Amino acid sequence: MIVKQIHSYLMAKSYDYAMRSTEKRCLQKWRKELLAQADGELLEIGAGTGVNLPHYPDRVSQIILSEPDAQMRKRLQRRTGQLQKERFNITSWGAESIKMPDASFDTIVSTLVLCSVPSLEVSLNEIYRLLRPNGILLFLEHVISNHPATRTWQHRIEPFWSLCAGNCRLTRDTAAEIHASGLKIERLTEAPMVGAPTFVRGTIRGVARKVPEPG
Ligand SMILES: C[S@@+](CC[C@H](N)C(=O)[O-])C[C@H]1O[C@@H](n2cnc3c(N)ncnc32)[C@H](O)[C@@H]1O
Repeated sequence: MIVKQIHSYLMAKSYDYAMRSTEKRCLQKWRKELLAQADGELLEIGAGTGVNLPHYPDRVSQIILSEPDAQMRKRLQRRTGQLQKERFNITSWGAESIKMPDASFDTIVSTLVLCSVPSLEVSLNEIYRLLRPNGILLFLEHVISNHPATRTWQHRIEPFWSLCAGNCRLTRDTAAEIHASGLKIERLTEAPMVGAPTFVRGTIRGVARKVPEPG
């Protein structure tokens, strides 16, 4: 228990610093472009230290930030305090169990989170449930590599890496799982996360929509 708490404290404390170079080299730009598409009532899962917050357009009035890690939440609280506090509502829900009725959101945001959730399938089913018809998932995730040699290394390193990095998985084919959840991927960009180690460099980002059922 105490080891878990120390680990969580160190992860939260070092997160922004560890990501600084990658943020400057590509992530900030990607976040800005992606989140410009946000609209209506919004849920962000695994909001971390709140790096996405400055990128939300003004038309998004109400934002629920879910973050199960208490240390991350403390930082999130500090960041929302520096912005328009009344826009944000912070919760401790995990992505696999969001305590809101069906069809509650127009936009759901997941950036670098679907690698860490205990079950990708359960979390994506939850996202599908929570989206309104025509609602969108905006995603930015690191995924399994297209290169066989890198894939082999990702499989080898994953057990150790996931222990050190908050259950972060290296071998998820997240685009395929989004598709399998019933969401329709409308935009998909693959790009290397510049400055990141090879085994977390491959990323996907884009928009997936909950297409209304006929009838
Ligand atoms: C790599 S950080 C990403 C933080 C932020 N979204 C970003 O873009 O920088 C992963 C975040 O997912 C959170 N997380 C882990 N398991 C989760 C779960 N089951 N549901 C929601 N968030 C989770 C972690 O606490 C952490 O804040």
